[in-house]
Amino acid sequence: MPQFPVARPRRLRATAALRRLVRETRITADGLVLPLFVRPGKGVRKLIASMPGNFQLSVDELVKEAHSVHKLGIPAVLLFGIPDKKDEKASGAYAKHGIVQTAVRAVKAAVPELLVITDVCNCEYTSHGHCGIVRRRRDGALDVDNDATLELLAKSAVSHAEAGADIVAPSDMMDGCVAAIRRELDKAGFTNTPVMSYAAKFASGFYGPFRDAAESLPQFGDRRSYQMDYANGDEALREVAQDIAEGADIVMVKPALAYLDLVRRVKERFGYPTAVYSVSGEFSMVKAAAKNGWLDERAIVREIMTAFRRAGADIIITYWAKDVARWLAA
Ligand code: PBG
Repeated sequence: MPQFPVARPRRLRATAALRRLVRETRITADGLVLPLFVRPGKGVRKLIASMPGNFQLSVDELVKEAHSVHKLGIPAVLLFGIPDKKDEKASGAYAKHGIVQTAVRAVKAAVPELLVITDVCNCEYTSHGHCGIVRRRRDGALDVDNDATLELLAKSAVSHAEAGADIVAPSDMMDGCVAAIRRELDKAGFTNTPVMSYAAKFASGFYGPFRDAAESLPQFGDRRSYQMDYANGDEALREVAQDIAEGADIVMVKPALAYLDLVRRVKERFGYPTAVYSVSGEFSMVKAAAKNGWLDERAIVREIMTAFRRAGADIIITYWAKDVARWLAA
């Protein structure tokens, strides 16, 4: 028999009540955000095949969903628009009566207490599926023109704020985009509208199902000239520092599960409200395994959500938000 010193960690693990008493990390509905997809039409609930339980909703259906989200105690939704028409200039992204603008007005009118966060990006609105204006570079390759894109992003953000968005969330990864958005929001009088920046967003295979959901698969090339190389952690910290300097109020790491080292570093380094976006691929792979009976979805989701919080995330953007809120209440 080994002799134990005074400390014997297992003492506090013996029963569920003891474990509950000393648990360091607790999940609540307070930090949850549910992403929702809105499309034109009426009475539309189009299942997204690769993301079971998620739908493209018309505005009337979105309003119903907003009510149920609010009733579950989830404080916020994150809206993505799927427009009727796409073009090279992403006109639908900043149209006064664009799909997201219309959706924001409807949700804020019906459920004013629910925070509406809008995704600010062009990829759902461009015919080519890239996040900005595409130009041919000197070397002949097609690429997104960073600076020309900034103006569109700022216009989109202002149009969202005008429609009533509570927070705008640029996800494009253009340099200078937070500054451009902050400047135009302030000019338009929206000095109190916070910016949640997708500060460290990686070029990731985990976005696969989302591109189905948002119909935003790039028609040529990929996003590696603007989204980050997932091999780089120090660079992620520089991106976050830059977005904070430009005026970001909340910073995000995305995807979440494979990037928790960065969540911890961002939280410790900056002490800012830190969000993780648990993206479509993280969701779909668990769903698929659960469907096969290989994993217990509820147990896995609890473990994943706890890991996000333990890593330092204050805000968790997740397609499981409603399930988590329901499970917490049960
Ligand atoms: C881009 C955007 C993407 C996601 C959110 N905003 C996709 C991309 O960069 O290709 C991914 C979200 C997810 O996978 O759940 N506007």
